[in-house]
Amino acid sequence: MSYSKDLLRQILNKIDGKVALSFSYQAEDVVVLHLLSQCKIKSLEVFTLDTGKLFDECKELHKETEKFFKISIKKYLPKKNDVKNMENKLGFLGMRESLENRHLCCHVRKTKPLGRALKDKNAWITGLRAAQSITRSELRFVEYDEKFDLFKINPIVSWSEEDVFGYIKKYNLPLNSLYSRGFKSIGCEPCTRAVKNHEDVRAGRWWWENPEHKECGLHVKER
Ligand code: ADX
Ligand code: SF4
Repeated sequence: MSYSKDLLRQILNKIDGKVALSFSYQAEDVVVLHLLSQCKIKSLEVFTLDTGKLFDECKELHKETEKFFKISIKKYLPKKNDVKNMENKLGFLGMRESLENRHLCCHVRKTKPLGRALKDKNAWITGLRAAQSITRSELRFVEYDEKFDLFKINPIVSWSEEDVFGYIKKYNLPLNSLYSRGFKSIGCEPCTRAVKNHEDVRAGRWWWENPEHKECGLHVKER
């Protein structure tokens, strides 16, 4: 684990320009934020994609994290007009009716705002882990993201779920209270639910879809 911090520090030392951490209120992002807080980076932006569909528990963690780390987390919101047009077309829970509808909602509420967040950045840091799903098994610690034309750094790519929660406990870091209610992965409220102990870590995300479809577009390589 100190390996992750050392490598992260070495890589960031070589990158000029602005660096950003995408923060989604999951335990992984809190761990990465803690690693970053020890790297003494000159200009780090911590941002969240506020889809307008986040759980209240995420809003609570927003405040708690800002206080704990003495930072401000920037919010990127979807454009009001995009949301209005989409809701007129899909209705309130239309994202559950087809993969096409779901992708449209994720595009409007997440991917487009992500494009704005990363526009002026040279490196993007995430809390992605390879073990999270079959769609993430090929992930590397550092990659070049052609879609956004920047370095993408995944400092805890090789960590297990146990490593993440062990780290949170060791440093007594803020944790989303949804975990204590059976959530193992946390996204938007209409598309995330609690899971049973034996279920896969992402089983509660878009639970009506097959595992190979469970990506919202943030981490999909092609445009
Ligand atoms: S998703 O693509 O299925 O939504 P996931 O929830 O596993 O992604 O999170 C993986 C990483 O993507 C997080 O560690 C975080 O860096 C980024 N991410 C996901 N959702 C958001 C969000 N709403 N705001 C900011 N970053 C996010
Ligand atoms: Fe829309 Fe659900 Fe995607 Fe959130 S996760 S942007 S509510 S489809």
